[in-house]
Amino acid sequence: MQQQINAVWEQLSRELAAASDTAGLEQIRVAYLGKKGQITGLLKGLQKVSVEEKKTLGQLINQLKRRAEESIVQTQERLAAEELERKVLSAEKYDVSLPSAEKKGSYHPITLVQRDLEDIFHSMGFNVEDFSEIVDDFACFESLNIPKHHPARDMQDTYYLENGQLLKTHTSAAQNSIMRKYGAPLRAIFPGRCFRNESIDACHENTFFQMEGMMIDEDISISNLIYFMKTMLSEVFQRDVSVRLRPGFFPFVEPGFELDVNCQICGGSGCPSCKHSGWLELCPCGMIHPNVLRYGGIDTDKYTGFAFGLGLTRLAMMKYGISDIRDFNSGSLKSLSQFSAK
Ligand code: PHE
Repeated sequence: MQQQINAVWEQLSRELAAASDTAGLEQIRVAYLGKKGQITGLLKGLQKVSVEEKKTLGQLINQLKRRAEESIVQTQERLAAEELERKVLSAEKYDVSLPSAEKKGSYHPITLVQRDLEDIFHSMGFNVEDFSEIVDDFACFESLNIPKHHPARDMQDTYYLENGQLLKTHTSAAQNSIMRKYGAPLRAIFPGRCFRNESIDACHENTFFQMEGMMIDEDISISNLIYFMKTMLSEVFQRDVSVRLRPGFFPFVEPGFELDVNCQICGGSGCPSCKHSGWLELCPCGMIHPNVLRYGGIDTDKYTGFAFGLGLTRLAMMKYGISDIRDFNSGSLKSLSQFSAK
């Protein structure tokens, strides 16, 4: 009988190893442990053996029964895992050569303009820097020569957090930390989202994008500033553009300017977009104020620099002929998905 027990175990093990689905496994279970199953049969057979044999054989058969039950459970787990894998694999099956059923996504017009500008400035040796949207008063104002109670703050009211931090009102807020990070000489641009407490209309939004640029080195002058601005704008508009500088006041530059570009809609002859002046105000800029350089740890006897704050949102409006600034944050795919990289 002992031989029989071993043979049953071997046969069961083989069958379990070969089982490939749960229905088959159930059949095996019934064939061994069911009422008329082989192991149940062995137990019944005990009635025919002597009392001494009954003890040892009984033990062996019960052991076999336990092992059989455990092995069946293990096989059940294996089959469940295999079935899951089959399901996942079949779900993942796809034909890469088929055209996509989904409509392709598109980039936001501001992303497109930003990437264009990053490429242009990168090719002129500028680093592209990232900066947070939540800053402190020092970064946004104090380090830029705008002390508390300075009237220049009036134009840049923003959203304050309870801990005294604020949503940055201009990308200039990164100037100080970038000066401290790299020291001089330095060429960097830093695009970013800015926030102001504005009454919203077709030209004003509480959330908009700027791109700040800074170049600090020995002998940097306004001519360098004009050169870089002109090169950049000609690349963006893919044509030669004219620029002009008008005086502008910003506490962190001296002298400060408003840089205008000839209206890209009428070419300079005058139209409603440029209020018939032929010029569009695009980029405030100037030579970095020595106080700001000093706050940034730069030696003002040796270095000078320029900074500009390009209105990315305005540039995108001009480039793509978007007349309402609110379209940018509207989330309307109908208006936002029609632009593509050049
Ligand atoms: N940060 C200024 C603004 O948003 C623009 C600016 C940047 C002016 C750099 C001069 C130099 O109004």
